[in-house]
Amino acid sequence: YTKIAAIFADSQELSGQEVQIGGWAKTIRDLKTFGFIELNDGSCFKNLQVVFSTEIVANYKEIASQNVGAALEIVGTVVLTPDAKQPLELQAKTVVVAGASSPEYPLQKKRHGVEFLRTIQHLRPRTNLYSATFRVRSVAAMAIHEFFQQKGFTYVHTPIITASDCEGAGEMFRVTTLDPKNPPLLENGDVDYSQDFFGKAANLTVSGQLNAENFAMAFGDVYTFGPTFRAENSNTARHAAEFWMIEPEMAFTDLAGDMDIAEAMIKFIIKRTMERCPDDLAFFNSFVDKGLLERLENVANSDFGRVSYTEAVEILKKNNANFDYPVEWGSDLQTEHERYLTEQVYKKPVFVTDYPKEIKAFYMRLNDDGKTVAATDCLVPGIGEIIGGSQREERLDVLESRIREMGMTTEDYWWYLDLRRYGGCKHAGFGLGFERMVMYLTGVANIRDVLPHPRTVGNADF
Ligand code: 4AD
Ligand code: MG
Repeated sequence: YTKIAAIFADSQELSGQEVQIGGWAKTIRDLKTFGFIELNDGSCFKNLQVVFSTEIVANYKEIASQNVGAALEIVGTVVLTPDAKQPLELQAKTVVVAGASSPEYPLQKKRHGVEFLRTIQHLRPRTNLYSATFRVRSVAAMAIHEFFQQKGFTYVHTPIITASDCEGAGEMFRVTTLDPKNPPLLENGDVDYSQDFFGKAANLTVSGQLNAENFAMAFGDVYTFGPTFRAENSNTARHAAEFWMIEPEMAFTDLAGDMDIAEAMIKFIIKRTMERCPDDLAFFNSFVDKGLLERLENVANSDFGRVSYTEAVEILKKNNANFDYPVEWGSDLQTEHERYLTEQVYKKPVFVTDYPKEIKAFYMRLNDDGKTVAATDCLVPGIGEIIGGSQREERLDVLESRIREMGMTTEDYWWYLDLRRYGGCKHAGFGLGFERMVMYLTGVANIRDVLPHPRTVGNADF
């Protein structure tokens, strides 16, 4: 089968040639002696116009009576039509109805709201919006691999089931084979996880970072790209319980080097997606987010802002009257603050660095002031935080006391601490939330619409 994308791309060579295609009918028009089918096969945004006529096809009536959504296999000749609205069409020789569709097909030719489409997640990939979104998602994923592979990073698969809590936030989904109604208990009434499958409490990973650090201390530059899970009870447009994260980890790299890689990566993803998905992005630019293309072009070609948390707080405090949560030095930045900084102040992506240690994870490197850590969040207009990263604490004694300070136990992190005992070095990394990147690339405003099958609070259907 030839892909419709290939027919458009190679139209000159394919002109006059016979091809076989398979796809789903978007529209079927019957003009009695001939008819038109607009067929989409998912390979590109465009539909292919297929002409079928009583003179050539044997089953004209069968074809003409098909409903929208029918799966069709068509053999026909590619004909260039430079004077028509579309540059080419297919003149059908045979049309096989692979699977008919019923008149109740929910995706009739009209625009549906995203709320409704979320209730038919099994069919929504066939709409323009989701088709474009998931092509961009696929292309962006490959661009990320390309970026890191070109730079000589090794791709590491980190475990999905783990006993550690990387972010120390306790927002984990437990993985257990114990009977929930009758688990074995310790004398103090706690569940006795030593009797569980793994011999201890295990959960779905919130981040592959700690494992990536193990590999960075052998391979130098590595990255993970996999699903991560958070049982955050945040019902927002930016939080999902299952999301994908890209986590590079780089030996002999400090915070500034970390941000340089993050910035270069985002620009690379944007450029590749603009090159490879022009029709999809044009659709988003017209129907989802006017100004998207111009914004992406600007972001790809200008420097990101960089500001310390302390300076950012000074800027934000001037606007405290307009925030739901006024800011003080020490407060965690809320989405409203992040968006104000990046949308009103910088009007472009900005890295905020050196946050107070109290609001960040245990592994971040303590700065000389003893109060802040070498952390960075990358904020972008329309979304807020898209990346969280840091230089890691490589000093064994400082790391041990940070772990204790946060009420965690050093024994649980013995192997992580070993990295500091055996050839530890300055190193840094970050995590890019992949869905937030896809939102940024498309202008789609809700994370539920960039995940093929979103898992959010109260929702694990499909
Ligand atoms: O800032 P976070 O929590 O950082 C880490 O997990 C580090 N271990 C990363 C590292 O340094 N290797 O998460 C990183 C990014 C966020 O900036 C955000 O884009 C995304 O992951 N993210 C989520 N995306 C969707 N839904 C959620 N619930 C998310 N939580 C974080
Ligand atoms: Mg974060």
